Amino acid sequence: MSNYNLTSKEKYQNAYQDSMEHPEKFWEEIAEENFVWQKKWENLVDWDFSIPEIKWFEGAKLNITENCIDRHLETRGEKTAILFEPNNPDEPAQHITYNELAKRVNQFSNVLKSQGIKKGDRVCIYLPMIPELAVSLLACARIGAIHSVVFAGFSATALSTRINDSDCKMVITSDGSYRGEKTIDLKGIVDEGLESCDCVETVLVAKRINTNINMKEGRDKWLQPLLDEASVECEPEIMDAEDPLFILYTSGSTGMPKGMVHTTAGYMVYTAYTFKNIFQYEENDVYWCTADIGWITGHSYIVYGPLANGATTIMFEGVPSYPDCGRFWEIVEKHKVNQFYTAPTAIRALAKESDDYVNKYDLSSLKTLGSVGEPINEEAWNWYNEKIGKENCPIVDTWWQTETGGILISALPGITPCLPTFATLPFPGIQPALMDEIGEEINQNNTNGRLCIKFPWPSMARTIWGNHERYKETYFSAYANKYFTGDGAFRDGNGNYRITGRVDDVIIVSGHNLGTAPIEDAINEHPAVAESAIVGFPHDVKGNALYGYVTLKDSGKEIDYDNLRKEINQMITERIGPIAKLNKIQFTNGLPKTRSGKIMRRILRKIACNESDKLGDISTLLNPECVEEIIEGVFVTYA
Ligand code: WT7
Repeated sequence: MSNYNLTSKEKYQNAYQDSMEHPEKFWEEIAEENFVWQKKWENLVDWDFSIPEIKWFEGAKLNITENCIDRHLETRGEKTAILFEPNNPDEPAQHITYNELAKRVNQFSNVLKSQGIKKGDRVCIYLPMIPELAVSLLACARIGAIHSVVFAGFSATALSTRINDSDCKMVITSDGSYRGEKTIDLKGIVDEGLESCDCVETVLVAKRINTNINMKEGRDKWLQPLLDEASVECEPEIMDAEDPLFILYTSGSTGMPKGMVHTTAGYMVYTAYTFKNIFQYEENDVYWCTADIGWITGHSYIVYGPLANGATTIMFEGVPSYPDCGRFWEIVEKHKVNQFYTAPTAIRALAKESDDYVNKYDLSSLKTLGSVGEPINEEAWNWYNEKIGKENCPIVDTWWQTETGGILISALPGITPCLPTFATLPFPGIQPALMDEIGEEINQNNTNGRLCIKFPWPSMARTIWGNHERYKETYFSAYANKYFTGDGAFRDGNGNYRITGRVDDVIIVSGHNLGTAPIEDAINEHPAVAESAIVGFPHDVKGNALYGYVTLKDSGKEIDYDNLRKEINQMITERIGPIAKLNKIQFTNGLPKTRSGKIMRRILRKIACNESDKLGDISTLLNPECVEEIIEGVFVTYA
């Protein structure tokens, strides 16, 4: 067990060194000693970033649900696995034990089978944060179906694009969802989305808000009656280590969202190992990650990582501001939460509210605080540290991505130092590299560079569903033999990493990864729009917000600009979802372009960030005159 529990700085350092010197032996021991295998691997790791091809634990056979559920039943059967906290604080919380979870997952697995779902089939899950969501992931995994969770805040168009891309046979949804005071008609969105999908044969519908919804004859089925009839026994499908476990879509800087494919064994080993250590989880702790399971954070650190360690993991259905801005802290007190993991955008939003919302509650159970999704600024860090942690809880700033499957850079609480605005040190097995503009690795410290990873780790995505070429192009072509993250980073004199933000056309808004191209595509569909460009600008709650420059086809006539702004945001909401709405829209007569016709977003970004004095040389542009106009337009429109 030596390297699995990193309970001191020496242990971390030794593990890190072992993982560098003998990576195969290192991972072999972790995998062998801490998981249940039906058959051991023949080959620990096989990789070639130039193809790219990455295989871990090849030849091994296992089922991840056996590791997340069955193996705990003997010793932890009556322990709470999932603690469900509903949107409405007056509705009782549900303590779902490991025994109960086993039963529910088996029943759900049998329902999937009875509806014709087999190993390798894709199942789209479009559910709110209710227990059925976690159960449906695990049920897919148990029978070897590949789940594709789509965040239930995405629009009908975004949903149908994702369903079609991976050819899903089934959709699992609910009649609706609760979100603070609102209810959302999820089933209506599914119906609309499915109008443009031919691949879906069955829609399973969970009941949550008890509204009268439309059920399409032959396609739509209520989930509960099927579960009630299903057997509580279901043998797990024995999977190969490299069989796909799930697809999860993430935005790219261009075009379609990318369906990142994660496989079984490596993902399991790495998420479990990082969960255990980055949260220093101890047997009776109550752990809470506030993310939605629709994002990778929820997959890895609400469901798979915690359950593989036999942990108690909270699933919260609601929002931080309902019924008031004390909700998070009320839940921490109520369930005596020990580890609390959230996003900087939530911290900043809550820090704006009165401290009374915090001080009303007893937060003394907290041991570790976590942050994820974007760089956490110093002010937010300090508030989190003082008001929530009472200067007594280490804050782990965890850096990772949908593509990485698990956390790659983070402090270990109480073990390695936490530094505000730094993710700090790489986890064992992770070999970061900073690259310069001409593609050379930067070896000295106290420098900025582009962040790459030099050696594979078990939970890295293996491909983009249906588009391996794009996988290669996006992650392995910028630098030979390295995985390129798309982020910039600074490394200090002690080897600590600070993530400085994206270096491509992806913008992180409230912790959500948004590509500019799909948003621009949505705007350009408006009949009045000729062209558009999106950039990010700093925002005190969201981290970044979106600034859209829009050129109209015809600007001569009397135009109702306010209405046009509403319509543009409406188009974006329909095509992508409300998270991609623009905060500012400026109408322009033209956009700055290079001589080859490429929009110079760098210039637009500077203008949006009030840095028009730092534009540099613009004389080589095709149309330098439009820059001045745009700068002046900022004042006309927003003064
Ligand atoms: C991008 C990945 C990993 C789950 C949530 C987001 C940014 C993420 C941090 C952090 C600075 C961060 C990066 C990364 N990011 N965590 N702790 N410090 N930046 O997953 O949607 O795939 O986005 O989020 O820019 O590349 P994602």
